[in-house]
Parts: sequence; C-alpha cells; structure tokens
Amino acid sequence: MFVADSDSSAAKTWSQRFEGSLHPAIAQFNASIGFDIRLLEYDLTGSQAHARMLAHCGIISAEEADRIWAGLEQIREQSRQGQFNPGVEDEDVHYAVEHRLVELIGETGKKLHTARSRNDQVATDLRLFLRDRIDRIAAFLHTFQAALLELADSHVTTLIPGYTHLQRAQPVSLAHHLLAYFEMAQRDIERLQDVRERTNRCPLGSGALAGTTFPIDREFAANLLGFESVTANSLDAVSDRDYVVEFHAAASLIVMHLSRLSEEIVLWASQEFSFVRLTDACATGSSLMPQKKNPDVPELVRGKSGRVFGNLQGLLVTLKGLPLAYNKDLQEDKEGLFDSADTVLACLEAMTILLREGVEFRQQRLAAAVMEDFSNATDVADYLVRKGIPFRTAYQLVGKIVRTCLGNGKLLKDLSLEAWQAFDPVFEIDIYEAIAPEQVVSARTSAGGTGFEAVRSALQKAKALHAQIPSILSPHTPAARW
Ligand code: ARG
Repeated sequence: MFVADSDSSAAKTWSQRFEGSLHPAIAQFNASIGFDIRLLEYDLTGSQAHARMLAHCGIISAEEADRIWAGLEQIREQSRQGQFNPGVEDEDVHYAVEHRLVELIGETGKKLHTARSRNDQVATDLRLFLRDRIDRIAAFLHTFQAALLELADSHVTTLIPGYTHLQRAQPVSLAHHLLAYFEMAQRDIERLQDVRERTNRCPLGSGALAGTTFPIDREFAANLLGFESVTANSLDAVSDRDYVVEFHAAASLIVMHLSRLSEEIVLWASQEFSFVRLTDACATGSSLMPQKKNPDVPELVRGKSGRVFGNLQGLLVTLKGLPLAYNKDLQEDKEGLFDSADTVLACLEAMTILLREGVEFRQQRLAAAVMEDFSNATDVADYLVRKGIPFRTAYQLVGKIVRTCLGNGKLLKDLSLEAWQAFDPVFEIDIYEAIAPEQVVSARTSAGGTGFEAVRSALQKAKALHAQIPSILSPHTPAARW
C-alpha cells in the first residue's frame, strides 16, 4: 500500500479527515489540472467577483476583499509571464489558484472559499469560458460570411451547373450557390445567440448542491460577471451541462455546413469537374506524385467535423445516467468542449482563407459546363406550357426529345427548327433563346430563386443583414464589470 507523507500537498488540500494522501497514479487519474488550466482566466475573474460579493455582504471585510482581488490579479500576471505552472499535486485549477493565493497573501487567502464550493465555481468558470468562445465563434462566422459575400458579389452572372442527386439539374448563378452558405452561417449565428442566452446565467452561490448558510447576494456577483440572471435551483445549477450540449449541437451544425462546402470544393477542384483552381496558398503536394496538387484544407475541415459530432455524443452519454447533483463524471465535460471550440474556430478561419485566397473559379470552364448538358430541359417544358400545353404532357414530350437527342449524340441547342417542329408545331425560333443558359437562369424570377434579379436582391438583403452586426458581436460583454 502506498503510504503518503502527511506533508504532501494532496494531504494538505483536503480536510484533516484524511490522514494519508492519494496513490500517485490515482492523483494523476483524478487530476484535471492538465486541461482545466485553460479555465484560469475565468476562474480568477469568478473568484474576484465572489470576493467582492463577500465584502459587499459583510462576510469578509473590504480590505480582505481588496487583498484577495490583488492576489488573484497577481496570479493572472504570473501566469501571463509563464510563472504559474501548477502540477498534479494541485488537482485542478481551482485548488491551484487557492494554494498560490495563500502563498501570496497568507491567511486572508483562506477566506476566499467562504460560501462557495468547487461545484458552483467550476460551473461558473465553464459558463464564462463558453460565453467567451460563443462570441469568438460568432465573430469568425461573421467574417466567413463576409468572404462569401465578396465572392458572391463578383459572380452574380457566373453560371454553374446546379445539381440534384449529383446529377446536372438546372444551371444557377454562382452567387446564388454561395449565398446558400451565407444563409446557413446566418442560422448558425442565430443558434449561437440562442445558446448564449441560456449559458449566460450565474450558478455562483449554489454551493456544493444546496446553497449556503451565509447571507450572500447572488445578483451582485452575477452582475459583476456580466451574467444576465442567476440560476434558479442549486441542484440543477451545479449539475446542469445542457448549455454545453446545446453548444456542441450548434458547433456540429457549423462544421457540418463547412463540411458540405468543403466537399463541394474538393469535387470542384478535381480534374473531372475542374470548376475551381486551387492556388498555392491553400494546396499541398504529394510526397511521391510530382503532378499532384491536393485540396488538403477542405479535406481537413470535412475530416475535423467528425470529432465535433463525437464530442456532442460523448457529453450526452456522460450525462445520461447521472443522479443529481454533482458527480465527478462532470469533470469529463471540459476536454470535448475545449476541443470543439478550438476546432470550430480553426475550421472557420481556414475556410475563410480558402475562400479569399485559396480558390479561383474557372469562368471559361464553368461557361462551357452549362452548355454541355440537358439542364435546360425543364425550360423546354415551361416553354410549351406557355404555349398552352399542360405541364405533364409537355414534360412527357420533352422526355422524348431528350431521348432522341441522346440517341443522335446531340444537345437540345443543336436541333434544327424543323426537328423541333417535327415534335410539335408550336415550337418557334424563340425556342433557342428560351434554352440558352443565361436565359434559363434569368427566367427564374421567383423570390429566393436563381434569376439574376432575384439574386441581386438577395445579395443586397444579405449585405444589409451582415452590416447590422448581430448583437452577439457588439460590444463584448465585459469580462467583469468593476
Ligand atoms: N475538477 C472538478 C471538475 O472539473 C471541479 C469540481 C470538483 N468538485 C468535487 N466535488 N470534487 O468537475
């Protein structure tokens, strides 16, 4: 059996109920300091607010609160200078801070944890961290949208084949295609705003699970930390992580959208499509095949989406069997959250650079692509409808025309007027204009469709929406109001 030296800090950490200290391997297993050190800034700020609140309520003196505040500020400074590197003996960031605080300011430091538990403390830290990451991600989404708008602006009249089932369907404006991703990003921002509301509630003052015997003022601390309100139920507050799950879901949708765009870029960059050229800024070579230029950036974004989805699933499974209130299982909430926040930010940054500097649309190739297929067949049917033929009858006839063309190795535009009229005498010379790709696109005048006018108006609306910076981006909630 491992017998601890009673002077070790593990023994010092807990109450005198403990005689020995943890087995070193168990100390390692139990510790979260290796990853929760990332909560340091939030832990310091949360503790500063707690100390101010204790003084405000007369639980400690104003001088004590000042000393604690300054000591915590000193730890922040030390950490920024690389002089605060707690190890496993401190177990987690909360203990590490308290230990250093006592080292720095002595006995007064031991008053900080009055009317508080690590359970409401860690929940507070996590919410502060997440609120901050939500704001950063929303800002990155906004920049990603800017890149889409810039591209869309220069490609309103550029045509690209539109697909369903990955089969050529109808040509569309490239701007229309890009604006589809703008819409997705817009909803992603809205979702983050929504998660932020539920994240921005203060659990501090819930104690370990049941509240505290001290006359605290929860609103006071919450206000200092920029929280919108305080949580209502102490049991729920220390054990709830559904705001993290919601974030994972929102993050999953963001990377899912990025992954779809990535997949398109990978396809477009292939020799088979050749719709885009990859610039040297965002492509890589092969170690073996000298001719290769690979779309690593979109491939990586597509690949990284998997771990974000995994983190969502991981946390759900961690939570599902937990009785109220806090359980140590909850320590497992952090790494997935850090990872998803980092991954989403990295993917958004990479995709924005890719759009701005990494891809060039091959206009000639795109123009040729929309000429070489039957994606104007619907327009022949619509033409017949305008001549009074019922749609289903027209649809059947055009099917026959396409089949005949395929048999002869021709496209619709190659048919002579006599050939058209042999199918139906209502065809006139204006059929050629009706099936020209530009006409096919511009004729789709319905709102939200790909007609050039509809796209121009959608682009204007998108720009206006983008210019009225979402509330989430303006101005950041101060880390602390004092
Ligand atoms: N490191 C812990 C966590 O991340 C802090 C809370 C510990 N609370 C406790 N009762 N052991 O969840």
